Parts: sequence; structure tokens; C-alpha cells
Amino acid sequence: MIKNILICGAGMMGKNIAFVFAGNPDYSVVLYDLYETDVPGGIRSNTKQLVEKEVMTEADVEERLGRISFTTDLDSDGIRNADFVIEAVFEDMKIKQETFAKLEERCRPDTIFCTNSSVMSPSEISAKLRHRERFVGTHFWNPAHLIPLVEVIKSDASSDETAQTVMDVLAGVGKKPVLCKKDVPGFIANRMQHALWREAIYIVEQGIADAKTVDDAVKYSFGLRLPQLAPLENSDMVGTQLTVNIHDYILKDLCDSHEASPLLREMLADGKLGFKSGEGFMKWTEEETKQSAADLNEYLIRMLYNK
Ligand SMILES: NC(=O)c1ccc[n+]([C@@H]2O[C@H](COP(=O)([O-])OP(=O)(O)OC[C@H]3O[C@@H](n4cnc5c(N)ncnc54)[C@H](O)[C@@H]3O)[C@@H](O)[C@H]2O)c1
Repeated sequence: MIKNILICGAGMMGKNIAFVFAGNPDYSVVLYDLYETDVPGGIRSNTKQLVEKEVMTEADVEERLGRISFTTDLDSDGIRNADFVIEAVFEDMKIKQETFAKLEERCRPDTIFCTNSSVMSPSEISAKLRHRERFVGTHFWNPAHLIPLVEVIKSDASSDETAQTVMDVLAGVGKKPVLCKKDVPGFIANRMQHALWREAIYIVEQGIADAKTVDDAVKYSFGLRLPQLAPLENSDMVGTQLTVNIHDYILKDLCDSHEASPLLREMLADGKLGFKSGEGFMKWTEEETKQSAADLNEYLIRMLYNK
């Protein structure tokens, strides 16, 4: 039975993932990191808007915090007794492989191992492990305490049983797990997201519209209906014949580049780094960059909790 949850890496994702698991009173959650970090302070700050919008009370947050402990000691009981591990350390193949090698030395052979890598292959991360069947990718989206989706990615060696258990555990803490049956770059959702970004950037590059117009065209049209009507249901709604006709006409004109766009590279060379430098596709004041994350959380809370 799964009871002891271990999250490796207490950064932005790790803290929020720990908060999600602590929502189940049957779980005890251990966060492990190489360095000391203020876990309660970080979680209180990340969940501030949930309290302000009355999705939960301060007491609810504190109750969850009571189920989370923190350690920098890899030889502590919290590591050895783990039933279910999610790794959220730096996005570095060597660090991830080394982390799992150390965990495998300490955890039971049937402890479930998951990696939260957003792009790296679970097959490669688990390549050197002895018990590869108990390993899958679990790609949480940022902010992990709000976005419901978690992609569960099967490696070339994950067992069906492991994938199913992970799906069940994630559903049990209120997430929307989806199964990615093949270990492919971008898994499911990022493949679609970046197909859209590629075309958006191409439209600007080709002088068809400016950046703000491109974003507005998304926000005020299909972006608005996407949470209700996603691409494949939409295709069925308009009919297969129309989709075929549209694709035969339009696809040859869409961007099909296999590299990052020249416009992006030019921006990079010009120091247009986005929020970080105050200019990317658009100009940003410091105030606007701060407001952006808060606005996103507020929007998600409204959409998810009607608050
Ligand atoms: N940031 C995102 O939007 C996002 C979204 C989905 C997935 N991810 C993935 O989640 C993982 C973590 O991302 P993050 O944004 O939380 O990063 P982060 O830099 O905020 O946190 C990483 C944490 O890992 C710790 N760490 C590094 N090496 C370690 C080790 N060997 N053992 C234990 N702890 C170690 C660091 O001290 C740090 O606290 C990455 O794999 C990233 O790709 C990130």
C-alpha cells in the first residue's frame, strides 16, 4: 500500500508537488534536497492566492504542511521507507541518473520511481537502473498545485502495472493523469504546444501580424474555447471531410521547420530575453512581469474553482 511519498528536489516544482500529495491525509510526504530551504514558507507563499480566494483556509494549508517533512539526509528513514518517489531535481541527465542510482541503493526494489522531467526521456534517465519496470515519467505542469494534468510516460521498460498504479495515485490526489504510451520528445501536450508556438513565431517572422496581434488572435478565438472543445472533438464536430479539405489546402503553407526560428535566434543575439531583460516579442515593465504570474494563478483559480 502506498503511504510514504518522497519528493526529491525541493525547488519550485518539488514544493508544489509535495503540497498536492499532502492533500491526502493517508500520505506522509518527505521532501529531500541537497540544500536547506524554507519549505513551509515557500508553500505558504505559493498557495497564498488559494487562501485569498477562499478555495482553502490557512488552517487547511497548515494541515497539509503538517504532513510534509524536509530532509537533506539521503540516509534518513524518509528515503528508505519511501513507497512512491517523484524526482524534481535540476533538469540535468547526469544529476537525474545519479539521483536514481542513489535512491535504488536505499529504497525497496518495488518502490515506484517517477521523474518530473519536462523534456528528458524516462528510458534514458532509468537506463542504468536494475529495476526499470517500476519507473515512469510523471510530467506535472507549472504551477503544479493548480494545473490538473500530469502526463504519465511509459519508458521502454515500464510495466503496465506501474503505469496504472501511478495513474491511480495521481487521480487519488485530484490530478488528471493521462497516459503517454511511447517515450517521445515532448510527450503529448508539449508537442502540441510547441507546434503552436512554432507557427505563432513564423507568422511574426513572415510579417503576417505582430506579436500582440498573434496572441490576441489566440486569446479571443480558439484559446477561449479550448478548455471546452479540444482539437479532436472539434474535428469530429466539423466533420472528417472538412478537416481533410482544410488540411489539404493549408498544411503545405504552415511552418515545418525542424529548428528554432531565425527570429528567435536574432532576438537572443540582441539580448531580447523576454521578461528577464524587459523585452522579447513585446516590451515588459518590471511591474508587468510580476503581475503576469499572479494574473495566471488568479485565472486558473477562477476556471478551476469558480472563485
Ligand atoms: N519549472 C517548470 O515550469 C517545470 C515544469 C514541469 C517540469 N519541470 C521539471 O521539474 C524539475 C525541477 O524543476 P524546478 O523548476 O522545480 O527546478 P528548481 O531549480 O526550482 O528546483 C530544483 C531543486 O533540486 C535541487 N537539487 C539539485 N540537485 C539535486 C540532487 N542531486 N539531489 C537533491 N536535490 C537536488 C536543487 O537544490 C533545487 O532545490 C526539472 O526536471 C524540470 O524540468 C519544471
